[in-house]
Amino acid sequence: MVKSLLRALKGEDVWPPPIWLMRQAGRYLPEYRRLRAETPDFVSFCLDPQRASEATLQPIRRFAMDGAILFSDILILPWALGRDLRFTEGHGPSLTPLRAVDEVQSLDLEGFLGRVAPVLETIGRVRAALTADHPATSLIGFVGAPFTVACYMIEGGGSKDFAATRRMAAMEPALFGRLIDVLTETSTAYLLAQIEAGAEAVMLFDSWAGLLPPSGFQSYVVEPTARIVAGIKARYPDVPVVGFPRLAGTMIGAYAAGTGVDTVGMDTAADPGVARQLVPPHMGLQGNLDPFALLQGGAVMENEARAILEAMKGRPFVFNLGHGVMPPTPPEHVAGLVDFVRRV
Ligand code: CP3
Repeated sequence: MVKSLLRALKGEDVWPPPIWLMRQAGRYLPEYRRLRAETPDFVSFCLDPQRASEATLQPIRRFAMDGAILFSDILILPWALGRDLRFTEGHGPSLTPLRAVDEVQSLDLEGFLGRVAPVLETIGRVRAALTADHPATSLIGFVGAPFTVACYMIEGGGSKDFAATRRMAAMEPALFGRLIDVLTETSTAYLLAQIEAGAEAVMLFDSWAGLLPPSGFQSYVVEPTARIVAGIKARYPDVPVVGFPRLAGTMIGAYAAGTGVDTVGMDTAADPGVARQLVPPHMGLQGNLDPFALLQGGAVMENEARAILEAMKGRPFVFNLGHGVMPPTPPEHVAGLVDFVRRV
C-alpha cells in the first residue's frame, strides 16, 4: 500500500489531500525549544543524529502529519563543501562571502559526502521510527536548489535583494556557472545518498528563484534543477521530487515544463486558480496557506484553507503553507488546520 503523500506527489488525485508544513519542526514547539537549548550551536544540532531525528519526529507525534521533513538545513551542503557557517540568534546564517575563482575551485567535492554522514544517519533513524510508530507518514529529504544556495554562499548570509549574487550571475557568468555546476553535481549526489539512507521523497527549496529574470531563471533555476531531477530519476524513477521555486510568479509554467519535477510547490503569493492553469494536470501542486493565516487561526485560517482546497479539488494536491511556520504560531492552530483539512 503506497502512502497517500507519495501517491499525491506522483500525480494521483488523493482526497482529502495529504498535509505537512514547511518548518513544521521548529521554534513554535515548546519541546523543540527545550531540545534546541541543549545544543546552542545550530550546525552541531543539525549534525547530531539523536537530536535531529527527535526534532524531525516531534511534529509527527503531535499532529500525525502525512510527511516528516528531515531536520537539517540547506546550508549544511556549503558547510560540508568546506565553507564556514555560523547561525546567530536573531540574525540568521553567516558565511564567509565567496567571490573568487579559487574559492570555487577549493570546494571539497571529495570530502563533502563524508561530512554529511550524520545527516544520513538521522534519516535512517527517522525512517526506522516512522516504520515502527507512524507507518502512514513518509520521510522527505531535501536540499536547497543551486541558485538559492549560491545566493547565501556569495552574499555571506541572508540579504533583502542578494545584489552581489545577481551581479555575479549577470557580469561573471563563467564563475557563477561554475559554482552552479558544483552545487548541481553535489546536490544530486547528496539527494541520492539521502534516498539510499531512507528518504522516500525529496524536495528542492529554491527560496530566491523569483529574483531572476526569465533568461536567468532558465539558466540558473530550470536547467540545474532538470539535471538534478534527471540524476535522481536515472537511479530512483519512483521517488517523487518536489520543486519549490519561491516567488517565481508566472515562471512556474516554465519550471513545470522544463525541470521534470513531479510536484510544484506554490508560495504564499501564488493564486492557486492561476497555478492550476500553468502546471499541467498530471503534475502535483503543493501549498500554499499564508503562514500569517495559520498564526491567526480560527475562522480566518479556515476560510483561507477552504478557498485553496476548493481551487485544488480534482487534481493531485498536497496541502502545505506558502512558506514556513512562524515561530509565534500556537501549536493548537496547527492541530486545528490538520483536523480541518482532513475533514473536507
Ligand atoms: O521543519 C523543517 O522545515 C525542516 C528543517 C529545515 C530548516 N531549514 C530548519 C531551520 C528546512 C527544510 C530548512 C530550509 C531552509 N533553510 C531554507 C529554505 C526554505 C525557506 O525558509 O525559504 C532556507 C532559506 C534556509 C536557511 C536558513 N536557516 C535561514 C535563513 C535561517 C534563519 C532564519 C530563521 O528562521 O531562524 C535558518 C535557521 C533554521 N533552519 C531554523 C530552523 C528550525 C531556526 C534556527 C533555530 O532553531 O535556532
